[in-house]
Amino acid sequence: MIEYKVLNKEEISKVKEIDRSDVAPGIYKVLDGNLIIENNQFIHPGFNEENFERVVRELTTDVEMGGVFIGAFSKDRLVGISGFQSELIGNEKNMLNFGPLWIDKYHRRMGIAKKLVNLSIEKAKDFGVNKFYISATPSSNTISFYLSQGCRLIETPDERLFKKEPDDIHLELVFK
Ligand SMILES: CC(C)(COP(=O)(O)OP(=O)(O)OC[C@H]1O[C@@H](n2cnc3c(N)ncnc32)[C@H](O)[C@@H]1OP(=O)(O)O)[C@@H](O)C(=O)NCCC(=O)NCCS
Repeated sequence: MIEYKVLNKEEISKVKEIDRSDVAPGIYKVLDGNLIIENNQFIHPGFNEENFERVVRELTTDVEMGGVFIGAFSKDRLVGISGFQSELIGNEKNMLNFGPLWIDKYHRRMGIAKKLVNLSIEKAKDFGVNKFYISATPSSNTISFYLSQGCRLIETPDERLFKKEPDDIHLELVFK
């Protein structure tokens, strides 16, 4: 059974228990404002210790600043994480920056990411917004997931986030 709970600062380092590696058959790109898929294999090798140290530092700061991160636990082990920073972003400052969303390689296609997105939406409503901004890895697995949850290509990407991840697919998720 998978249990879900908001992570406190001390629990953030459990993110190291997640194998976020990914091999997908395609890579998404944006061409003339449309999403297209290229049949090139996407490979993410997963995080090494140095990557994880940086992630833990960044997420800890995010929690200190009011960000919300939810963990999916199998017994005591963290097998999935999602959440958002507290800062309002976008040109109209009416969106929360969603992410990360990582599900352990051996726990995928069980509905964990879908549940985490929905729990994150419930928490985001407390911030008075109805939109997530998602800078998404272009892996066809990842984009297929986000599209299945109702995400769409954002018309005007956030300048700062686009500069940071120009190869990502910049999406929005509008919720009620
Ligand atoms: C993308 C990711 C978060 C999906 O997590 P997940 O828990 O496996 O997703 P779910 O089980 O909730 O999937 C819900 C639906 O999304 C779609 N979906 C999920 N993974 C998919 C895939 N690999 N290919 C096609 N559709 C997919 C399906 O419609 C699925 O429903 P179904 O299983 O009933 O067909 C996970 O693969 C992952 O962690 N990938 C590596 C890290 C990453 O890229 N994170 C996002 C960074 S922006």
